[in-house]
Amino acid sequence: MVLLGLISLLAVWCGPDGWRWLRQQRLRVLYNRLYAQDVGHYPTAPNAFLMETASSLAPGTALDVAMGQGRNAVYLARRGWEVTGFDISEEAVHQTRINARKAGVKIRVVRQCASEFDYGHKRWDLILLIYAPVPLADAGYVSRLQDSLRPGGWLLYSSCVRREDEDDLLPCIGHHTPDELRAALVDFEIIRLEEEPTLNEWSASRERIVRLLARKK
Ligand SMILES: C[S@@+](CC[C@H](N)C(=O)[O-])C[C@H]1O[C@@H](n2cnc3c(N)ncnc32)[C@H](O)[C@@H]1O
Repeated sequence: MVLLGLISLLAVWCGPDGWRWLRQQRLRVLYNRLYAQDVGHYPTAPNAFLMETASSLAPGTALDVAMGQGRNAVYLARRGWEVTGFDISEEAVHQTRINARKAGVKIRVVRQCASEFDYGHKRWDLILLIYAPVPLADAGYVSRLQDSLRPGGWLLYSSCVRREDEDDLLPCIGHHTPDELRAALVDFEIIRLEEEPTLNEWSASRERIVRLLARKK
C-alpha cells in the first residue's frame, strides 16, 4: 500500500507523462482482473460494425489495437486475414492465445502498450480501434497509425462518444466525438461516420456510440 502510494506520488511528480503511465497501469491491472476472474461484463461475440464492414473487404494484414481477449482478431483470422493483435494486459494476451487455439487460427499476439507498440511502415491493410483507449486527438499518434497503413488501407473505429464532463488531463481513454474524429483524420477519406445511442458492449448499458470507417488517401 505504502509502495503504491509512493509510486503514484512519483508518477504525479513526473507531470503529464507520469499521469499517463499511472493511468495505463491502472487499466492494465483492471483488465487483468476482469479477464482472469472471468467476472463482470465483457463481450465475446465479434463487434457488429466489424462484421458488417469486413464482409466487403478483401483479406490482408490486420492490426487489432488493444485486442482484449481477441474476439475481433479471431473473427478476422477466421475470414483469412493475417492478424496481429496487442494489448497492455498480460491476461488479454493469454486469453487471446487460448481463443485463437480453440478457433484453430494463427494470430500474432504481443503484450505492449499502445504508445510504445512499433506500428511499422505501410504494413497493415486494416487497423481496428474497437473500444481501444488510444489518443486520436494526438496528431503524433494519428500520424504513426497513418504511416503504418498501406495506401488505401482501412481504419475501423468504434467506441463511446466522449462526454463533456470527461477529463482531458488523461487523453488516453479512447473516447472521441464525431467532430474530434473528423478533425483528427483530415488525411483520411472518411467513408462512414455515425453516432447513435445503442448498446455499449462493454457495460451493457445504452450509450452514445460512434462508428467510423476511414481510408488512407
Ligand atoms: C474495452 S477493452 C476493448 C478490447 C477489444 N478491443 C474489444 O473490443 O473486445 C479495452 C482494452 O484495452 C486494453 N488497454 C488499455 N490500455 C491500453 C494501452 N495503453 N495499450 C494497449 N492496450 C490497452 C485493455 O487491457 C483492454 O483489453
